[in-house]
Amino acid sequence: MAKKAATVFMCRECGYESPQWMGKCICGAWNSMVEMKVQPEKPDGRRRTGSGTLGTGSGADTGRGGSPIGKLAGRPVPLRRVSSSDTDRLGTGIAELDRVLGGGLVRGSLTLLSGEPGIGKSTLILQAAVNIARSSGSVLYVSGEESEEQIRSRADRICDDLPENLLILAETNMENILLQFETLKPAFLIIDSIQTMYSEELDSAPGSVSQVRVVGNELMRIGKGYETPVLIVAHVTKSGELAGPKTVEHLVDTVLSFTGERHQDLRILRAAKNRFGATNEIGAFEMCEEGLREVRNLSEAFMEDMDSGAEGSVATAVYEGTRPLILEVQALTAPTNMNFPRRTAVGIDLGRLNMILAVLERRVGVSLYNQDVYINIVGGIRPGGTSADLALALAVYSSYKGLVPPERVLSFGEIGLTGEIRSVPHADKILREAASLGFRSVMLPAKTAERLKKSGFKADVEILGVATLRDAIDKISGLTRKPSKKR
Ligand code: TYD
Ligand code: MG
Repeated sequence: MAKKAATVFMCRECGYESPQWMGKCICGAWNSMVEMKVQPEKPDGRRRTGSGTLGTGSGADTGRGGSPIGKLAGRPVPLRRVSSSDTDRLGTGIAELDRVLGGGLVRGSLTLLSGEPGIGKSTLILQAAVNIARSSGSVLYVSGEESEEQIRSRADRICDDLPENLLILAETNMENILLQFETLKPAFLIIDSIQTMYSEELDSAPGSVSQVRVVGNELMRIGKGYETPVLIVAHVTKSGELAGPKTVEHLVDTVLSFTGERHQDLRILRAAKNRFGATNEIGAFEMCEEGLREVRNLSEAFMEDMDSGAEGSVATAVYEGTRPLILEVQALTAPTNMNFPRRTAVGIDLGRLNMILAVLERRVGVSLYNQDVYINIVGGIRPGGTSADLALALAVYSSYKGLVPPERVLSFGEIGLTGEIRSVPHADKILREAASLGFRSVMLPAKTAERLKKSGFKADVEILGVATLRDAIDKISGLTRKPSKKR
């Protein structure tokens, strides 16, 4: 039996370890230290963070010519002789998922799929498991949350003919999971979810920081050792991350987050971290009776719902990953007597909103000091970058003035502090997308418009170049069809 475990304190925000408890961590977080037990150093100098039939690093015979885990403690090799893992990816058979992963699952990689309970993580991963079992070999799906029967009934909804080599293990004990893994040596391992798994070596409850860390470490070692991709499901709460999974984020190669509104069907998958691909790709799905369906044209899905002809609603476009995405920005201003008017933003950074409101005030003369301002980026999307700035300012202006923005007009561009409209990348692709979705005019930074004109760019939309926010507001007011009552 192992020696007595020592106590260390670990920051649940950044993973920093300290022998003493600290009120404030070096990362600046307060009261973030949690106590955890670690096993003392092994004679080979490696700290043991869990137990199991694998992972002792002792060179025990595990087939394939010695311990694959032992390989981790290997010698330095010339970098140029290391094979590129990029060439060796396992397709999940779900194009939207593969794209977010950067082209499929890299062998030996550890992926964390996080999301709120009930969002569809198990469904997504079961669909991928069925595909991988058909195309690449056996899949071991370990569930600590549901029984085999429950998983079977979900599988019946998504697939008529289940492959023989999709194996389900309802288990929470890591030692047994490792044993089963080693016996089976599957092509893909799924752990659903990490919060339910525990290692016998620790006394703490499943889901505690120390358990999650030990289990995460153990999974990484077997994944890397056997070059098997491992996917770990983790639950997070609406208000943010749970303490546990956050502590393994630095350990895993890829962190995927699956979001959406439970009462709506649309689900968005994005990579918060990806050692093997870009982090700005998004994948879109729709939850339906037969599992998750891929949404190839997300812009179209948003446009169907767009409430054009309403005050405070403006279409914009962002470039996410490798494709343009058309979105609707909604703004509402409401008079208030409070000294500090309310600023609420869903889908964009509050600091960005405050900056845009300040530019509206100083450069356009629209004073909102006695107005609450609410912003919503429709569809649960959080666009990265600054492309939506212009539409945001126009939506606020439209709501405040009670003006209905013209229909089928889209606007995008970054707003600078002097009120200038600055270029954003991939304007040409956004224009083509806008044209294909039936937009009449696109308002964009004047410099971009000039550049496109010079390069002989042709698209089936009117291009309205605007140099400043004031310019944009004048143009949009000129296009406005029916100014409604003044407030
Ligand atoms: P699930 O994958 O169990 O979520 P998670 O693992 O993230 O907790 O999915 C839960 C919800 O999805 C559940 O409320 C039922 C719904 N659902 C469908 O609408 N269609 C389906 O085909 C399936 C399998 C689930
Ligand atoms: Mg689940």
